[in-house]
Order: sequence, then structure tokens, then C-alpha cells
Amino acid sequence: MTAVLVLNGPNLGRLGVREPDVYGALSLDDLRSAVAGWAGALAIEAEVRQTDDESELVHWLHEAVDSRRDVVLNPAAFTHYSYALRDAAAMVTKGGLRLVEVHISNPYAREEFRHVSVIGAVATGTIAGFGFDSYRLALSALAGS
Ligand code: DQA
Repeated sequence: MTAVLVLNGPNLGRLGVREPDVYGALSLDDLRSAVAGWAGALAIEAEVRQTDDESELVHWLHEAVDSRRDVVLNPAAFTHYSYALRDAAAMVTKGGLRLVEVHISNPYAREEFRHVSVIGAVATGTIAGFGFDSYRLALSALAGS
């Protein structure tokens, strides 16, 4: 069975409260419930985690490699500047696993600093701009093969 870690970076624990005009009114717990439902329907295993801590996110990517799990990663603001996260993401994809970068909003339609992703070039693919559905689409892609 496909096993996926769904990893979320800084400030995503504040979903529902943080800029609802950009990120919507649903919370991280709502995302957890949605992911559980989608994973069940797709017959895959998915575990949702969130941290504000860069080193914890790096360690979770190491764990994905060691436990042979694919990754759905919303790196949040780390997307735009964390070379440590990029290097860890590269270990996932160069290790023969898949990593889908996801965003709730479409960073390319927002401020210029969000137009750069240091993760995208080492990801298997990127899905952005579909709200929580970005995660559903990522899980579907991973379940498809
Ligand atoms: C985000 C987009 C990032 O630019 C931002 O820093 C986030 C969330 C998204 O899901 O749309 O925290 O990754």
C-alpha cells in the first residue's frame, strides 16, 4: 500500500484564523479529516503533520527516506528560501521516492518574493492554487502508480 507523509510548514497550524481571505476558513484539523477521507477512498495511508520548526521538517524528510514513504509537502514560507529543506527534499526524490510540493494559494499570483520556489526543482511535481484540493490532487497523483 502507498504510504504518504503529508508535511506542513510554518504558520499552517493557524489555518482558519490566518488570512482566511487567502487560505480559507478551514482549520488544520479540518485538513486532517479531509486527508483521512481522501486516503481511505484512494486506499493509501496518509499521516498529516505540521511544524513551525525548519529542523523538524528536515528530520521528517529524512524519516520519509528511511521509512520509504512518499511525501506531500507544503513548505509554506520555507518554500521561498530554505536550502536545507531543498537538500532534504532532494534526498527524497533522488532516493527513488516521490515528493509533491503543494500550496493552498497560488504563490505566483501573489507578492514577488513568493514567485521563487527553491523546492520545485527537486520535487516530483507541484500543485498550487486549489485550496485544500491541492492536497487531494497530490494524493490522487501518488495513488495513481
Ligand atoms: C503557502 C504559500 C506560501 O507563500 C506561504 O508562505 C504559506 C502558505 C500556501 O499554501 O499557499 O505559508 O505555502
